[in-house]
Amino acid sequence: MGDLDGKVALITGAARGQGAAAARAFVREGARVVIADVSDDAGKALADELGEAAYYRHLDVSSEDDWTSAVADAVRTFGALHVLVNNAGVLHFSAVADTALADYERVVRINQFGCFLGMKTAIPALKAAGGGSIVNVSSVEGLAGMPFTVAYASSKFAIRGMTKVAALELGPDNIRVNSVHPGMIDTKMVQDAIGGGAEVDLSPVTKKLALRRMGRSEEIAELVLFLASDRSSYCTGGEFVADGGSTATHALNIS
Ligand SMILES: NC(=O)c1ccc[n+]([C@@H]2O[C@H](COP(=O)([O-])OP(=O)(O)OC[C@H]3O[C@@H](n4cnc5c(N)ncnc54)[C@H](O)[C@@H]3O)[C@@H](O)[C@H]2O)c1
Repeated sequence: MGDLDGKVALITGAARGQGAAAARAFVREGARVVIADVSDDAGKALADELGEAAYYRHLDVSSEDDWTSAVADAVRTFGALHVLVNNAGVLHFSAVADTALADYERVVRINQFGCFLGMKTAIPALKAAGGGSIVNVSSVEGLAGMPFTVAYASSKFAIRGMTKVAALELGPDNIRVNSVHPGMIDTKMVQDAIGGGAEVDLSPVTKKLALRRMGRSEEIAELVLFLASDRSSYCTGGEFVADGGSTATHALNIS
């Protein structure tokens, strides 16, 4: 018996990183999964690896049209939709005074509008399935500020807020909505944003953490799996932190 037997899930940004780890964990636990992303080659390769329980779907989360057709296709292909994981995201570093409006808008369109559009579009399908779970991937930057992340932090705080609003509205329909707040996780996202894809030494940052290391995608996937499954049946509107202890301290920490 798997934790997600009989469930159908759509995971955005699932071609790589934490989304791909969630897709693997979901299939392991009996779900059928739509791997949604704009990175077509990587998404198709993951779908091939996962076999009949998964297929790849091109979905730009900032496009309402893409959302409408992707959700309809998921229901047509797998018969229902029970779980939505709004995981797709992009990171951009720049000082507030130096942030181009175009960069701010790009980040907010993907991270914030994408999460909103995903919930808005999936809600009728989740209701039709008799209920379900929405997991919105925010960040520790949705809990506290960090310099040079004005667009990213704005979008991640927004996700935390809209999660609570949706949880309050959808509880009577047996739809639970929670946010996940990872700390620094070992994926390409940070490297892409800082080093243009090149390896960047993050050890000076990680040595300040209680656990003294970055997190792994699989560790976040286990939390997302818990929130997607009925094992978290009394959790809604909650903020679930998996950050190696990064938010356990504050700037006056002398260690
Ligand atoms: N890596 C970290 O340290 C960290 C920390 C906290 C939160 N997060 C969040 O976790 C989530 C997953 O990030 P990751 O670390 O796996 O990064 P990643 O860069 O490895 O994966 C992000 C995925 O999102 C996809 N994507 C980008 N724009 C898209 C769009 N418009 N439509 C659909 N898909 C799109 C990318 O193609 C990629 O496959 C993101 O929301 C990110 O903000 C990451």
